[in-house]
Amino acid sequence: MQPLNHTSLYASTSIAGWSAFLPPNVLTNTELEKRLDTNDEWIRERTGIRERRVGGKTSDMAVEAGRRAITLAGIEPSKINMLVLATTTPDHIMPSTASIVHHRLGLSGASFDINAVCAGFVHAYIVTNSMMSTMGIDTAIVIGSDCLSSLTGNDDRTTTILFGDGAGAVILNKVTKKTYSGILGADMGTDGSGYDLLFCPHQGTIEMDGQEVFRRAVRATVASATRALELAGMKAGDISLFIPHQANYRIIQAVCERMGIAEDHTAITIETTGNTSAASIPIALSVALDEGRVTTGDTILMSGFGAGMSWSSVVVRL
Ligand code: COA
Repeated sequence: MQPLNHTSLYASTSIAGWSAFLPPNVLTNTELEKRLDTNDEWIRERTGIRERRVGGKTSDMAVEAGRRAITLAGIEPSKINMLVLATTTPDHIMPSTASIVHHRLGLSGASFDINAVCAGFVHAYIVTNSMMSTMGIDTAIVIGSDCLSSLTGNDDRTTTILFGDGAGAVILNKVTKKTYSGILGADMGTDGSGYDLLFCPHQGTIEMDGQEVFRRAVRATVASATRALELAGMKAGDISLFIPHQANYRIIQAVCERMGIAEDHTAITIETTGNTSAASIPIALSVALDEGRVTTGDTILMSGFGAGMSWSSVVVRL
């Protein structure tokens, strides 16, 4: 697919509300040591993960994150005209989990799921913005919610250590200001020849070629993030905060090194969340906004990569 390359495709938007939700059940490396042939030191050294949250259900976590974001934005749920939910772990095969969340949050307009695995939130963010531009939608909510911990085999030490559950939400408002805010550049791509490097069959558990996924994650993230920056007419040094998908601390480090982005300009939450798939970027974004690391006028770069293989990156002026 050719990358999207025209900022007039998007509406001028602002992030009016945001939120992260993690289920309460903490699973530490030390607990994993008791049932798997692994240890805390190995996991922390190879992945940067110390603990993850498990036991979440996609719709429940999405509703929690959505409610908090709506409260923060101070808007009536019925004024939200669209929900796009990025998830790979829908509650059911049908209907979409978005329709359940849409009902429980009391939203109006349409809703649908996007499955682009760990790239899902950035895909959803781009799709939502372009639909706000073309379909006259003034307010929308984008949620990433996943419970991949439910798809790891109990005795598979390679995947069980990586994946956790969570959700993150942002509310986008169309704005008419002199200065454009919203998407400045976006890139999306797929390489389906690598679909079986990371996949989960119906009724099965996640199967993964970790080393090859690692290599491709670094390559694709760097290429995609660079493309999005080029389309925005920017350099890595112009970015206030880089928010990469949180798959492995070493992947983030390798990407930052290749792109010349300092770690103190990068959002890193993986130590306490693990890989929460479509939720990882909105969780990291919410933490950064809560902590005041970024604010109105700043430019962020969000970049997701996951099974498919799929990737997407977006440069956004807040
Ligand atoms: N605990 C202890 N040892 C483990 C282990 C674990 N959980 N998992 C693997 N090992 C062992 C291997 O068996 C191997 O042993 P050997 O040297 O005796 O053969 C050794 O550790 C090294 O394994 P390797 O697979 O080379 O480790 P790695 O450095 O590549 O780390 C991953 C493994 C899975 C952490 C890493 O490849 C990774 O993160 N890949 C990307 C996965 C990912 O991000 N997926 C989601 C994408 S969105």
